[in-house]
Amino acid sequence: MNRRTFLQAGASAAIGALAGSGLAFAADAEIELSAGEPGAVISPHIYGHFIEHLGGVIYDGVWVGRNSSIPNVDGIRKQFVDDMKRIGAPNLRWPGGCFADGYHWRDGIGDASRRPRTYNFWQRRMPAGTDATETNQFGIHEFMHLCRLVGAEPYIAANVGSGTPTEFHDWVSYCNAPLGTVSLADKRAANGDKEPFGVRYWGVGNESWGCGGTMRPEEYAALYRRFVTQFPAYTEPFLVATGPRGHSADGDIGWTTGFFEAMRGFEPPLGFSLHFYTDLRPTPVQAGNFQAPEWYEVLLRGVRLEKVIEDHWKEMGKFDAAHRTKLVVDEWGVWYAPGSEITPAYILSETITLRDAVHTGMTFDIFNRHAGKIAMANVAQSVNCIHSLFLARGAQFVRTPVYHVFDMYRSHMGARQVPVSNPVPELNIPALAGQARLPGLSASASIRDRRLAVTLTNPSLDAPLSVRIRLAGGARATEARGLVLTHQDMRATNTFADPDEVKPAAYPVRVVADALVLSLPKQAVILVECDIT
Ligand code: AHR
Repeated sequence: MNRRTFLQAGASAAIGALAGSGLAFAADAEIELSAGEPGAVISPHIYGHFIEHLGGVIYDGVWVGRNSSIPNVDGIRKQFVDDMKRIGAPNLRWPGGCFADGYHWRDGIGDASRRPRTYNFWQRRMPAGTDATETNQFGIHEFMHLCRLVGAEPYIAANVGSGTPTEFHDWVSYCNAPLGTVSLADKRAANGDKEPFGVRYWGVGNESWGCGGTMRPEEYAALYRRFVTQFPAYTEPFLVATGPRGHSADGDIGWTTGFFEAMRGFEPPLGFSLHFYTDLRPTPVQAGNFQAPEWYEVLLRGVRLEKVIEDHWKEMGKFDAAHRTKLVVDEWGVWYAPGSEITPAYILSETITLRDAVHTGMTFDIFNRHAGKIAMANVAQSVNCIHSLFLARGAQFVRTPVYHVFDMYRSHMGARQVPVSNPVPELNIPALAGQARLPGLSASASIRDRRLAVTLTNPSLDAPLSVRIRLAGGARATEARGLVLTHQDMRATNTFADPDEVKPAAYPVRVVADALVLSLPKQAVILVECDIT
């Protein structure tokens, strides 16, 4: 059934049902929320971030330098701090990515003018004539300062690929040991921070199957154990082991099986990293210039994440029935082939359009619906990169459409997930390989202190969708508020010259008896909030 047929059938069904209930309203679709039966808490960390020493991410994106004329806080771009704070950024992953497994933390401490210049993994991707040499001006103290300014928890990816357990343990002690204990704590104090950083989240390597060491899962599991057994116990850690390349054609389930098989009889990590890129690099799909099939292709590839989460969770359950280990989706985003960089040296930076915002809404709905499985997620990457919230170049700065989705979904952070029954049929869509099927509506909901938040995404380029959100169990809503992010042009984007082309606007939602009623525009993300009694 295509959307049009469904709309007719759905409308008749709804009218039929409503005739019985005496209500003077018909909708294309009815979804039901069971606010009285909330599920898992949606970890605020699902709305997390990631910055890497790569292209223009750290240098220029985050760090402008203490003597810069660009407004800054001790060298950190002030606008970045303010906006990250505004969306309640719960965490920040650093220093990579692939950079992490070549990074030696001692290079980034002490007198900044005497820090060494070192090799950066991303050199191999730099355009001819440009150079990625790492200046080490942004090290652990600068990173921690940024985290404190934003109010974000640090999540540090340690070097397993070219580092040693000793180097890792020293870094942990340097960060977390109280003053007056080990010498590394005194050194930290001498470098400006008397108080321990209290870093809890540690990634033990990154993509150890690729840039982090091209290992087999059993090789990595053996290294993982060596790296964590003598972990300095100043702050109770949340250790994250390298997990699969989820966007591989086969979902890379073999990595998960191999790692947990090799960990039998040993303490498993609390977190297992899952990387899932909506990877368009092998296709002709461009970041800023596209037609309907390319719009749908991105969304179609994006929603595969749900099955990848389910498959790996199931596999992990074979070894750990109690599911002590949770998933940490610490890299996700839409990754296009090169071509729309802010400037050639800002490798991996992309034009971000309404399509990426819609993809973000659908991704967050997946995370929310699987809240019990996911401890954390980190968008790759927050600024001047893949799927960024911000683009910056010198004094210029802009919030992308993706930023606004992070802002709209804030209400879910730390709230309890509410089950949603969503019977909206799939859409028949044109995609790269021909006709395909895509969920006709993406939805998730949460509740906190009787305040309900519902997020909905209509991926259709053709048709609006009128929806009746029924509150099960006799719940009643008081006044409801709506916010919509959309644009008549599917390719709409925010630029330095026109920074507010795509931004949220208030949207009408009616309360009708036990339901919330609204019409979702096509190609739109919507937030509905209300208090319920
Ligand atoms: O986010 C860009 C890169 O993608 C990261 O450095 C790496 O971990 C992944 O392959």
